[in-house]
Amino acid sequence: MRPLDPPLFSADQIARRVVELAHEIDADLEAKGRSGDLLLIAVLKGSVVFVADLMRGMATPVSIEFIRARGYEGTESSGNVELTYLPEQSVAGRNVLLVEDILDTGRTADVILQRLRAEGPAHLALCALLDKPSRREVEVEADYVGFTIDDFFVVGYGLDYNQQGRDWPAIHVLPE
Ligand code: XMP
Ligand code: MG
Repeated sequence: MRPLDPPLFSADQIARRVVELAHEIDADLEAKGRSGDLLLIAVLKGSVVFVADLMRGMATPVSIEFIRARGYEGTESSGNVELTYLPEQSVAGRNVLLVEDILDTGRTADVILQRLRAEGPAHLALCALLDKPSRREVEVEADYVGFTIDDFFVVGYGLDYNQQGRDWPAIHVLPE
């Protein structure tokens, strides 16, 4: 599969926006006196490229964990979400930022947030590179959003179509 040009967001546009987000998060943590100990939890696999850039753009020292949720086949939401890999460290008492590639129906983030909340983090926030608010089925709102988009299926910069396209440097609308 090859990317369809032009991209929806170029590698340069993404890089600039991710640095802005990183600075916004730093500033919030500083303002709220929480810049000591941040635990990033990145949702596999889609957010690995994003979180790699995001954490390097931040001045706040972070540690990182991963979580894996399954519930998608192709481009259709199956509605149920299963957690197939969990963070190694407990989030109890920690300052946590969940990092998602994209918020679509909101079901994945909702299930993960409920799971993490149950462990009693000191603070829990959500950062999503992309947001498709028109697709929302459950009430989830990100504290930080890179780009808000219409109902397109997008590929690249970590996002896949059937495991392809994660390596593309830019974000493209899925070729028909
Ligand atoms: P929900 O519906 O649970 O979906 O908010 C979140 C997960 O669905 C995948 N997803 C996409 N993946 N391009 C992708 O490559 C898209 O346009 C897209 N929309 C949803 C993604 O894995 C996300 O974490
Ligand atoms: Mg996917």
